[in-house]
Amino acid sequence: MKASVVAHKDFTVSKIDDRVYGAFLEHLGRAIYEGIYEPDHPSADKNGMRGDVAKLVKDLNVPMVRYPGGNFVSAYNWEDGVGPRDERPTRLDLAWHTSESNAVGVHEFADWCETVGTEMMLAVNLGSRGVDDARNFLEYVNHPGGTYWSDLRIKNGRKEPFDVKMWCLGNEMDGPWQVGHKDADEYGKLAANTARAMRMFDSKLELIVCGSSHADMASYPDWERIVLEHTYEHVDHISLHMYFANRDKDTANYLALNHKLDRYIKTVASTITQVKNKKRSKRDVYISFDEWNVWYHSNKQDRTILEGNSGWPHAPGLLEDIYNFEDVLQVGLILNTFIRNSDVVKIACIAQLVNVIAPIMTEKGGPAWAQTIYYPYYFASIFGRGTALNLIVNSPGYDSKHADNTPYVDVSGVHNEEEGTLSFFLVNRHGTDSIDVSVSLQGFAAGQIIDHQVMTHTNLEAVNTAKNQTEVAPRKGSGAKAEDGSLTVKLPPYSYQMVRVKV
Ligand code: AHR
Repeated sequence: MKASVVAHKDFTVSKIDDRVYGAFLEHLGRAIYEGIYEPDHPSADKNGMRGDVAKLVKDLNVPMVRYPGGNFVSAYNWEDGVGPRDERPTRLDLAWHTSESNAVGVHEFADWCETVGTEMMLAVNLGSRGVDDARNFLEYVNHPGGTYWSDLRIKNGRKEPFDVKMWCLGNEMDGPWQVGHKDADEYGKLAANTARAMRMFDSKLELIVCGSSHADMASYPDWERIVLEHTYEHVDHISLHMYFANRDKDTANYLALNHKLDRYIKTVASTITQVKNKKRSKRDVYISFDEWNVWYHSNKQDRTILEGNSGWPHAPGLLEDIYNFEDVLQVGLILNTFIRNSDVVKIACIAQLVNVIAPIMTEKGGPAWAQTIYYPYYFASIFGRGTALNLIVNSPGYDSKHADNTPYVDVSGVHNEEEGTLSFFLVNRHGTDSIDVSVSLQGFAAGQIIDHQVMTHTNLEAVNTAKNQTEVAPRKGSGAKAEDGSLTVKLPPYSYQMVRVKV
């Protein structure tokens, strides 16, 4: 089988915002406790943060991390997580039917972000709380001093403000599972009022209003229109979420799901344009895709806790999806979709980062390791920075539940002009056939291959575990050629590849 691609230097989508490679950490399961924080762990630093986990996160060069939720934030009192640890209250977390010790709060999380070299994106609680709480939290976090809340922060050990720029106005407020769920009008008004108050403090904040929890919500896409009609002039991004699942064990359909993602993004982008024009506005609003990942492997085992049959445990194993090789392909496809839509998607967060539907897993007192999906995320985050190319792709395809003629080859291309590199991320959706891909490099000086990484496996269900951490891992590819203005590469059946060319 053959496929051809045209990559022209001047045919671009957009400069990719680095924050498209962001992540998310929630007070949920073992994401925080036993994930990033485990004071008794042999690798723990003076703050009790695991060094082995920090290293895996640092290697990913994560630009920003959304915190502290998620569903958790909709009944969270941030004040519980500041001040002397032994005085912090333990609370019930209604969202996940667990208890929250508050041993980690905004100070500890900020220190951890500094350690791993990332920026914080905070969420305010618009479920059980509202404008007043949001303005207090903002003042605590960002005001230099001389007021009640900022002086309390200083008393709690942090002299300089945290200077957090990105703020989410609640989480998934369209979802009836959310504490304080609202309809679009109610939420839109509250979000607009909260945004106004926050902007009175600092007009330069980047504010993210809630869009839909997923594209099958009955309220989608009217939710986006109504919420934006209330908030358009006051926010910078609208947040979307989507989780991917292969419950029917149908790989062909599973691997076509990014068509649904693409439609979701394009629909909301059109809604943004509609509201912009309706308001005769000059400003732009973008998409913050601040929760995305595969999530289904752990659904059954989570039921007992989520249905309340285990009491209120503290940091139990929850949402611990063990990812397989098939999910590598899915994550590669999702990231390709974000790159191709980088003109509208300016922020995206893999959900989540450690233990909870995450690329990094840990054992209490034991090792931390990279799950299978760590690698496509790693390659995109490290090498997918620059300008997204608008590629013309000609590939044979198949009809799936989500689209007709789903191309077997899915590809994104990134030109990094400063480094003089072109990076291509390719997925072969065909289960039995190799595909010879030829990419015509137009407007680029002749190049040479500088890196070629391949992920394949004979078993789509292969996983990495604490004992076998590299069952699914990239290996150096061979056979890719860059000559006479074109790049040629063979994609084995069901494979993910990254090919980089010096130009
Ligand atoms: O990431 C897990 C959960 O998924 C989040 O708490 C929520 O926002 C979404 O439904």
